[in-house]
Amino acid sequence: MHVDPQALDWRPHPRVSWDVLLGPRDLRRALELDVRHGLGRRPRELPPKYFYDAHGSRLFEQITRLPEYYPTRREREILEARAVEIARRSDADTLVELGSGTSDKTRLLLRALSAAGTLRRFVPFDVDAVTLRGSALRIASEFHSLSVHAVVGDFERHVPLLPRGGRRLIAFLGGTIGNLSPRPRARFLEDIAGQLGPADAFLLGTDLVKDIPRLEAAYNDAQGVTAEFNKNVLSVLNTELNADFDLDQFEHVARYDPRQGWIEMLLRSTVRQTIVVRDLDLRVEFGEGELMRTEISAKFTPSQIDRELEAAGMRTEARWTDRAGDFALTLAVCGTEHGG
Ligand code: AVJ
Repeated sequence: MHVDPQALDWRPHPRVSWDVLLGPRDLRRALELDVRHGLGRRPRELPPKYFYDAHGSRLFEQITRLPEYYPTRREREILEARAVEIARRSDADTLVELGSGTSDKTRLLLRALSAAGTLRRFVPFDVDAVTLRGSALRIASEFHSLSVHAVVGDFERHVPLLPRGGRRLIAFLGGTIGNLSPRPRARFLEDIAGQLGPADAFLLGTDLVKDIPRLEAAYNDAQGVTAEFNKNVLSVLNTELNADFDLDQFEHVARYDPRQGWIEMLLRSTVRQTIVVRDLDLRVEFGEGELMRTEISAKFTPSQIDRELEAAGMRTEARWTDRAGDFALTLAVCGTEHGG
């Protein structure tokens, strides 16, 4: 996180090119604004994107393998069963993956598109230049005729700047759309709809509403990995902004809000304390028991997904779920008219 790809020790690769829509100075400015805003109000809140420094990304990888955390396995199950069908329906020459992370599940799509003979270009898009560089190089070396056009950007701001041309499949997997609250989510979907030409398609991964104990267990694992992941945002603030959070004075909380239809993760201050954020010249009081929200992870019903896509100017063309019905992949195209 917060690393300029130009500043990294990386050898240029003949099939990998870069777009940096978000440089280190932009990232720093956004972090400062977000933290000032989020700690300066009540209830306090920090955006989930700051979980993912190198340590946080490793913790998230660990989360995806936890017995309680089903979404990653379910989504992989769907992709294993349906990648060929998705490739055939989209007929894409370009796979764009938003928030691509390590591009692990992406391989299933790349392989299917590659076997279909249409694939030419992969556009991994992520806020984290380091992760992006790793996955861009790995994918380029695995797929010998693929051009990789890596884009460092924020999916809430830079979707309108995605590279155009060809027949694109834009994938947003993992249920990451659940991190957005309804208004930003609607804006994001409108940005996607604005990008989609008649030959393009959008593949969206969403976690589905299910019984509350299973939802809550997925965010309260027995090994405490999610708790460590949650508290890692405090380490990020300590490192990046010279804050003095003591991670032992905060407790992990994750609970489902059935009215909103989302899991929220929070950090509870176990004592009354004052935190100093040196780089922001900020002192923040936490009362004993005070909660600070660090993430929402919205859960969907299939009809809600259809409605939200439609409200943004898209329509659902196909949907697949895993056998247990835990997770959904939705393929959407532009336009609201039927039978086109
Ligand atoms: C990466 C946003 C999909 O919301 O389930 C996992 C992040 N947070 N455990 C999710 C997460 C806590 C994850 N997403």
